[in-house]
Amino acid sequence: MRVSIATALTTALGLAQVSSGIKILMNNDDGFGGGNIRELYRLLKGAGHDVIIVAPAVQQSGQGGRTDFTTSPNLTAPTQYNIIPAGAPSLGTDPNDSNIWYYNGTPAACTFVALDYVLPNFYPDWTGAPDLFLSGPNYGVNLGAFVYSLSGTLGATYAAIARSIPGIALSASNKALSYKDVTNTSNPATWAATVSFKVVEQFIDNTGPSQPILPLGYGVNVNIPPLTSAELPPVVKTRMTGEAEVDYAAYNETSGLFTWENLRPRAAGVNACYNGDCSLPGETYVVGGGGVSVSVFTIDYDAPSVPYTEMVFEKAASLFEGAGGGDGNGTYKAKRHLTARRELFVGRDLKD
Ligand SMILES: *[C@@H]1O[C@H](CO)[C@@H](O)[C@H](O)[C@H]1NC(C)=O
Ligand SMILES: *[C@@H]1O[C@H](CO)[C@@H](O)[C@H](O)[C@H]1NC(C)=O
Ligand SMILES: *[C@@H]1O[C@H](CO)[C@@H](O)[C@H](O)[C@H]1NC(C)=O
Ligand SMILES: *[C@@H]1O[C@H](CO)[C@@H](O)[C@H](O)[C@H]1NC(C)=O
Ligand SMILES: *[C@@H]1O[C@H](CO)[C@@H](O)[C@H](O)[C@H]1NC(C)=O
Repeated sequence: MRVSIATALTTALGLAQVSSGIKILMNNDDGFGGGNIRELYRLLKGAGHDVIIVAPAVQQSGQGGRTDFTTSPNLTAPTQYNIIPAGAPSLGTDPNDSNIWYYNGTPAACTFVALDYVLPNFYPDWTGAPDLFLSGPNYGVNLGAFVYSLSGTLGATYAAIARSIPGIALSASNKALSYKDVTNTSNPATWAATVSFKVVEQFIDNTGPSQPILPLGYGVNVNIPPLTSAELPPVVKTRMTGEAEVDYAAYNETSGLFTWENLRPRAAGVNACYNGDCSLPGETYVVGGGGVSVSVFTIDYDAPSVPYTEMVFEKAASLFEGAGGGDGNGTYKAKRHLTARRELFVGRDLKD
């Protein structure tokens, strides 16, 4: 790990690096009153960053990337921990902190409400473009490929990455705790937030001025093992896929119901490696061993350009011929700005 002396000193002395303060948008799926997100918010602000939370009004775990906006302009029930009463607007701020917003929608919906309403209307100097998006830390880990369709923590993050904002998803091995119950710095929410902070600060500190924290379309997934202090466990470069768990439908004869169980032995499909470094350990394995996993992903879901991919296209070759030989006849040629890979390292949302 590359840590400058200045960074090490700053961390050791707990000094705020005001000059390197960036604009950070936060979200989660556990709700805007969660101890984990509130503690990370506190630490990031303490380090001199501008931080805004726009997070679900209530617990929204398991929503994946669903974008579900409320159909009621006012809350039909109180928010999490009764912070806001029923009848108040469905979008609003914490009574004690006007930079902490709730919205009564899914995590991905909160990301969009933040980018398209809260920031433009209330934070014009942000120009709608946070330098970094953080989701979590979640209560409970988000490990392996199968949770990526299920995890609201990741769904909120994918939404931001798709909108050209570098995104980091953070998940911890701890349990739901109201921010009101965080009364000292020796509790699992503060520990998870502190470890998250130490990881996130590396990405911020090792990014040059006016450089993006991550390339366009890139995200980072961080998972934290059970903690007994704020000390940083070993941090390991990992793969999202590989050594991951996959569900199967377990039928219970007595109840006549299905539940999910982890498939044993592990499925071959999720262990197939086409992208990234196939020699890296899987995040499930690393977190199980007590390490912090750091996986780098992109939201380019296309298969890499390898012979297998060609073989798959070949099977439907006769169909493609009708449209001009498979590579497009001009009508459907990819637009340059959508295909540029290395050239398009940074960018903003493109408007037609
Ligand atoms: C706001 O702060 C007051 C005074 O510190 C406290 O009594 C109240 O519970 C806080 N409200 C929320 C929603 O945190
Ligand atoms: C919704 O809340 C606003 C502001 O609190 C209030 O003026 C309005 O009457 C409420 N509307 C309904 C349908 O409850
Ligand atoms: C800190 O708070 C936790 C509850 O969140 C409690 O269990 C613990 O005893 C407290 N520790 C100290 C040193 O006060
Ligand atoms: C199956 O269902 C019954 C009845 O609901 C329950 O008591 C039992 O624990 C279940 N078995 C398993 C293995 O989950
Ligand atoms: C290209 O293909 C499209 C779709 O099959 C067709 O509508 C169009 O007429 C073709 N254009 C030319 C110039 O062949």
